[in-house]
Amino acid sequence: MSDPYLNFANSALGRRLVGALGLPAPLRLERWMAGRARPVDGALLIGGGVLAEAASGCLQRLTDAAFAQQDGQFGLRRWTAEHGPKLKALIFDASGIGNAEQLRELREFFQPALKGLGQCPRVVVLGRPPESLQDPFAASAQRALEGFTRSLGKEIRRGGSVQLLYVGQGAEDQLEGALRFFLSPKSAYVSGQVIRLTACAARVQDWTRPLAGLTALVTGASRGIGAAIAQTLARDGAQVLLLDVPPVKNALDALAARLGGRGIALDICAADAAAQLLEALPEGVDILVHNAGITRDKTLAKMSEAFWDSVIDVNLRAPQLLTQALLEAGKLHADARVVLLASISGIAGNLGQSNYAASKAGVIGLAQAWAPALGKRGISINAVAPGFIETQMTAAIPLTIREAGRRMNSMGQGGLPQDVAEAVAWFAQPSSGAVSGQVLRVCGQSLLGA
Ligand SMILES: NC(=O)c1ccc[n+]([C@@H]2O[C@H](COP(=O)([O-])OP(=O)(O)OC[C@H]3O[C@@H](n4cnc5c(N)ncnc54)[C@H](O)[C@@H]3O)[C@@H](O)[C@H]2O)c1
Repeated sequence: MSDPYLNFANSALGRRLVGALGLPAPLRLERWMAGRARPVDGALLIGGGVLAEAASGCLQRLTDAAFAQQDGQFGLRRWTAEHGPKLKALIFDASGIGNAEQLRELREFFQPALKGLGQCPRVVVLGRPPESLQDPFAASAQRALEGFTRSLGKEIRRGGSVQLLYVGQGAEDQLEGALRFFLSPKSAYVSGQVIRLTACAARVQDWTRPLAGLTALVTGASRGIGAAIAQTLARDGAQVLLLDVPPVKNALDALAARLGGRGIALDICAADAAAQLLEALPEGVDILVHNAGITRDKTLAKMSEAFWDSVIDVNLRAPQLLTQALLEAGKLHADARVVLLASISGIAGNLGQSNYAASKAGVIGLAQAWAPALGKRGISINAVAPGFIETQMTAAIPLTIREAGRRMNSMGQGGLPQDVAEAVAWFAQPSSGAVSGQVLRVCGQSLLGA
């Protein structure tokens, strides 16, 4: 799907006109390109204490130009706004901030750095989970990082993004996987997010193919976001199994063949769906992505029973029942990764979508409720909540509502299926066992439900 205004605003004539008239000028976001060597294509500035020290161990794999606030800190050269190169990425470890006064360290680090930002910069703030701290003032100071992060996300512009990672005790060695995602164009349409990392023994062996040796099942994979997810998981080395309804079997099989995978034609709401799925997966799976989803919009007063039931069945009941069946049959391997497609509609609610929003909020609840029990087997379960993504689903929305959905976020544009797929692929990595029971919005920091 295309966004004519974004194309115009980035043309030579458009740039002049948009500037002269003071219209919003959304920037074309950088996306990950296959074959790229390092996550950060440019200079990175790091500051702070113990978590910065932990992160500094992987800096050379993230970028070939890392700088610190002081000469020699973490073995790096000093960066200054006057003499340093344009910055592509910032990491600030705010975990040492233990009271309200010390919050000024945020201003002191970021103010000069903001003057030196290049295009599409990525910012990560590191902290400690407030709930893990005994001292209420320290917990409050760490909680303050959320408001700071979300505000900076709204101010940064230039296609930039800002996230907060709360790093639990023992999770310091899991920073690399998260930084590789949040500091690279893989998270182009993710901003203002707060993620908690916990200790996890699983490791990625080869960062160029982090999913090598793993088998992934993606539902609703014949088109749109599901097809992008299957492509991205295959790019990262997974053996992919693509599932979709029997009427689209041809498109499904064609895509599966291109990706070296296999198609499974199955309606996930069929009475014998679980039995059919178990039969189709004799070896089981390591990665399970519940992407299949439908909308049947009507205000509640006019909603038919069929509209209500079909949306709840496809979006919520089928993921519940199929995951349970795979678990009980031992077809979800130890250390498996389960990813559920939610929606910001499930967070903010949406007029005419009481069925859809209920199903997607339920999906978030499922990830949160199941995480502790699944964690005992090394399995993680998370939800990805897309905002406005350019697909056939959103192309069907009436023009004015479509335009509002596209623009009402910090990036001033809709996301692409690839943006959602990259988030799923990150959750699917072995090292992402450090994250479970969480929801990651891929919405350009949408104002809805922010
Ligand atoms: N497009 C967006 O902006 C957006 C925003 C938020 C959330 N989402 C969610 O992302 C997911 C993918 O969305 P999309 O835009 O690619 O949708 P889409 O309609 O393009 O694709 C959905 C796929 O699911 C399949 N499917 C539907 N019912 C099925 C069933 N019973 N059994 C098996 N397969 C079935 C469809 O055949 C289709 O291939 C959905 O869960 C959707 O709710 C999308």
